[in-house]
Amino acid sequence: MSQDAQSAPRPKDAEHIDLIETYFDANAKDWSDLYSSAKRVNDLVLADRKNASVRHLAKHVGEGSYVLDVGCGAGMTAIDLMRLGCRVHGVDISSKMLDHARENFEQAGFDPKRWELSCAGLFGAELESESFDAIAGLGFLQYQDDEAAALRELYRVLKPGGTLVITGPTQRKFANWLGMARYYYALRRRVSRLLKPKPKAPPQPASKPVEGGSEEVLHVISTHAYSYGRFRRLLSDAGFEVTSCKGHGYVNFEIIGRRIGSRGELFLHRAFTAVAKVLPIGRWANDLIFVARKR
Ligand SMILES: C[S@@+](CC[C@H](N)C(=O)[O-])C[C@H]1O[C@@H](n2cnc3c(N)ncnc32)[C@H](O)[C@@H]1O
Repeated sequence: MSQDAQSAPRPKDAEHIDLIETYFDANAKDWSDLYSSAKRVNDLVLADRKNASVRHLAKHVGEGSYVLDVGCGAGMTAIDLMRLGCRVHGVDISSKMLDHARENFEQAGFDPKRWELSCAGLFGAELESESFDAIAGLGFLQYQDDEAAALRELYRVLKPGGTLVITGPTQRKFANWLGMARYYYALRRRVSRLLKPKPKAPPQPASKPVEGGSEEVLHVISTHAYSYGRFRRLLSDAGFEVTSCKGHGYVNFEIIGRRIGSRGELFLHRAFTAVAKVLPIGRWANDLIFVARKR
């Protein structure tokens, strides 16, 4: 996160939701396409994250299960769940994402009785308590202003014994050199400032016209990142029992990423994924996939 982003005032809830909506409305087509026509290594990794999450869910759902896909985006997880025989309720704040989801469901030929889409924030969707057999939350939690409240809401709507599969980005990952990359960038900025001193500002006129009346405030979507321990605590504080956690994806390497190109990135991703099968390095992957249960 940049210095500006850290010091910008936190938007109020409604404003925050607006920002998420605007951001994902603008990127909806990319999210709809990435699973079918990956353009970057990261797209492949995201598609694989969906497949891994669906494999976890498949152990707990089947014909007739009712599943919530929170932050369902273009509905690609929901499609896999419907192929498993589930009925899916997708909730998303972005109407553009839901347009793609609807189109994708229709193209795949699913009976409209098998799916429902609500264009709303998690709290605005007015979901019934203990109504879902399972919940999928992929790439959702990190955008929530109050993650603890979001998890409590998911707990409320899940049936006792139901399963939640949820992902979130890690704070310290191999890709950001376990959090050290930002020190490298800070040092590089400092050195280049020392080597290239700023040119002196031209002299200002005695009276400078003021443009506009109010100060512009830079708002940002807060995207959280998690340590394994904090993610686990958030889940257990909401009432969930964590049954498993797996790291996923080793891409977007800072500093060397551009130099090694897509092939290099793919190689690193595959190499780390292979190592993760024998050594417990998953907590430093790009994403964590948690499976949790409502007691
Ligand atoms: C990174 S995308 C992931 C989409 C999909 N789950 C996937 O994995 O392809 C996150 C989605 O969550 C939605 N979202 C974020 N916060 C939300 C909220 N509070 N309520 C509903 N949807 C939300 C966004 O609009 C966006 O479509």
